[in-house]
Amino acid sequence: MISTPNMSLGLTGQCAWVLGASGAIGSAVAEMLAAHGATVWLSGRDKIKLAALQDTITQAGGQARLRVLDATSTDEVTHAAREIVRQSGKINILVNSTATSTFGDFLDLTDEDWEKTFQSKLMVYVRSMRAVLPTMLKAGSGVIINISGRAGKLPSPAHLPGGSMNAAVNLLTKGISDRYKGQGIRANTIAPGPIASARFDALAAQDSAITAAKPSVMATQGSPQDVAHAVAWLASPFAAHLNGIVLPLDGGATPTV
Ligand SMILES: NC(=O)c1ccc[n+]([C@@H]2O[C@H](COP(=O)([O-])OP(=O)(O)OC[C@H]3O[C@@H](n4cnc5c(N)ncnc54)[C@H](OP(=O)(O)O)[C@@H]3O)[C@@H](O)[C@H]2O)c1
Repeated sequence: MISTPNMSLGLTGQCAWVLGASGAIGSAVAEMLAAHGATVWLSGRDKIKLAALQDTITQAGGQARLRVLDATSTDEVTHAAREIVRQSGKINILVNSTATSTFGDFLDLTDEDWEKTFQSKLMVYVRSMRAVLPTMLKAGSGVIINISGRAGKLPSPAHLPGGSMNAAVNLLTKGISDRYKGQGIRANTIAPGPIASARFDALAAQDSAITAAKPSVMATQGSPQDVAHAVAWLASPFAAHLNGIVLPLDGGATPTV
């Protein structure tokens, strides 16, 4: 269960769409936004996980709606955005938090592995932003938060496809913020370091197998709620003057500026 500080972030009545809501980070983000008063649309392919999350949010007094989809399909993403606007009348906040687990050593990864990573992360973010931006521009406001990852800056041996997509997400989001600044749109990236999740456990095991070293990053592992708090704050009016940033969320572990 998500607990929120006793403080209003001004998200009551906002409509948020979270892609990857069945995942470790996306589900925490959805719970957090709902706990702060937003109506949250939950998207991913796994209907059972999404329905369970909807129950959790509803039982906690929040509002959540389901839109099951395969975000590798442009049509499904476009239709979902239209349906959300038809039912909720707006989309104020978009959060992208999708990925597949194509981990492995460089020489073992195939073109298909790279393509899968490209389609399930970078292109999902492209499709969803393209689908919501016309509505946000018409309203004169909107917040986009894209989850990338530390491996977009510091390569991780088993995670070169995902890391490359993270670097591209950082660039893409900055480009979107630049293109639409002055039109009420803010687009920011959060780049988490290791976050407690099945995804990170799988990656850490592969990294260790490749480098024969225990990853030192374990000591600085954060939680999905750490990411969710940052998303809620970035989505709020308290972050109104933040646009085009890549926010490292790693407990200070990244040894670069
Ligand atoms: N966990 C970490 O340590 C960590 C660190 C840095 C960055 N990140 C980034 O944070 C994001 C979320 O990571 P996570 O740990 O929450 O991963 P996760 O638990 O594996 O969640 C991944 C999400 O992506 C969704 N997804 C994948 N393919 C999809 C498709 N074709 N259509 C719709 N949804 C799709 C999954 O939904 P379905 O399975 O329901 O389709 C799931 O909700 C990713 O971008 C990841 O790279 C994670």
